[in-house]
Amino acid sequence: MSEDIKKTISELHIYEKKLLKELEANPDATPNRIASNTGMDIKSVMSAAGSLASKDIIEMRKDVQMIYSLTEDGLKYANQGLPERKILNVLAEKKQIPMKDLADEAGIDKKETGIALGWLRQKNWAQIDKGVINITDVGKDFAGKSDVDEKVLEHLKANADGVKLFADDLRDGFKKLTGRKNILNIKKETSHSFKILPKGEEILNVGFEIKEQATQLTHEHLKEGEWKSLEYRPYDIKAEAPVIFAGKKHPLRVIIDEIREIFLNMGFSEDNGEFVESAFWNFDSLFQPQDHAAREMQDTFYLKNPLTCDLPDDALVKLTAETHETGADTGSIGWQYDWSEDIARQSVLRTHTTGISTKHLFNHEPPIKMFSVGRVFRRETFDYKHLPEFHQVEGLVCDKGISYQNLLGTLKEFYKKLGFEVRFRPAYFPYTYLSTETEIYLEEKESWIELGGAGMFRPEVLRPLGIDQPALAFGLGIERLAMIRYDVEDIRMLYKSDIKWLRELPTVNGVEL
Ligand code: DAH
Repeated sequence: MSEDIKKTISELHIYEKKLLKELEANPDATPNRIASNTGMDIKSVMSAAGSLASKDIIEMRKDVQMIYSLTEDGLKYANQGLPERKILNVLAEKKQIPMKDLADEAGIDKKETGIALGWLRQKNWAQIDKGVINITDVGKDFAGKSDVDEKVLEHLKANADGVKLFADDLRDGFKKLTGRKNILNIKKETSHSFKILPKGEEILNVGFEIKEQATQLTHEHLKEGEWKSLEYRPYDIKAEAPVIFAGKKHPLRVIIDEIREIFLNMGFSEDNGEFVESAFWNFDSLFQPQDHAAREMQDTFYLKNPLTCDLPDDALVKLTAETHETGADTGSIGWQYDWSEDIARQSVLRTHTTGISTKHLFNHEPPIKMFSVGRVFRRETFDYKHLPEFHQVEGLVCDKGISYQNLLGTLKEFYKKLGFEVRFRPAYFPYTYLSTETEIYLEEKESWIELGGAGMFRPEVLRPLGIDQPALAFGLGIERLAMIRYDVEDIRMLYKSDIKWLRELPTVNGVEL
């Protein structure tokens, strides 16, 4: 005996064994017969059969059969005759009927006359001439005998439980009847039949015992020592199981929550800003001159409602204006232009989260460790790596002795915790010096991908805010990280709610276990 067969037999459920034995004795047994012969319920028979079929032990066939019976109208016609028959009966006696008297003479409903005449003509039982219906020779012939469809009506009436197949001599009549509305009831009956396959034969040849098997150990089994003598059915640990898609967080949410956790664990506290912000906080507080390219309409969404925002504290506004114009006492000469309050009042959808850093510095005393995650908005055209709104995480550390080295260390640590190794590239931002951009190398693309900007806030930023200690800050994109982690080529995928993709993503942190 082959090992395989032995193993297969040992893994058969008792219901499968019963079913197989029953089929051996009764190859044509229907599921119902098997159920009554074995004492199993029909559901168990079907699931055992499905399981045997999946192992190629039996074949399961599904037959669909139509069952025909008479509708209420059909029964009426079977009892009283089809309307054309009623007309023919009268014609047989009177040879002709004037059209206008048809319904009364034949005792049929006025509504039925059209159909009745149609069939009269089709069966060639009568002809109509100048408003008078005349019987034909065929009509005379049929006056005393049933037509094929009438025979079927009789047959169906005699077999009230329904008819599955019509004998050859009834076939034509049946076809004729199916062409008429509301006479036949058609019911579909599905039945199953089984056939033992060679592997099943082999199993039966080897033979097996039908014995109750323990599927669950109870307290009593253990206490009474019965577990020693119980028969156990081995598990097939390779059996296919239905795939279950558990509910889970959206991958972008997963990564955002992870980022928040990392910063919270690193001792940062979380702050939040608003989507609608004044140009003052979004640009001016960051020493971005009022004619800076990033402020242009094609880069920034300006709002109609509210058209403007309130400016903060007068002293801050004044100092900011001075710094922009002349550098005030920062050691810089500023941007050398006339700063405008109106421009600073404009309301924008924040283009980055960095305004949260300056506002936070204004409202808090160092030492400060703050982070913030949120959406930002830019007038980008949609494509595989740009969206007009996306997420950034902003970070800010301000204290005595904070240096550029701390900035690089913080970023390195953050990315490492997320599972990314980054490099730093010198960069320029109007609000930082030194400045850097973090990048990650993507092997499959053989290129460096930019992840975000960072730097040490310039005195021109810090002074008006009343801060005289160094501050490091960074603003990092989140979607790119998600794209790399989830191997997404097109950023739009993250917003598409593609249910197939979402379902198939691994559940735990999006990481393959
Ligand atoms: N705001 C920059 C951007 O959106 C990123 C950035 C650069 C943020 C330097 C900072 C910073 O806090 O110090 O691209």
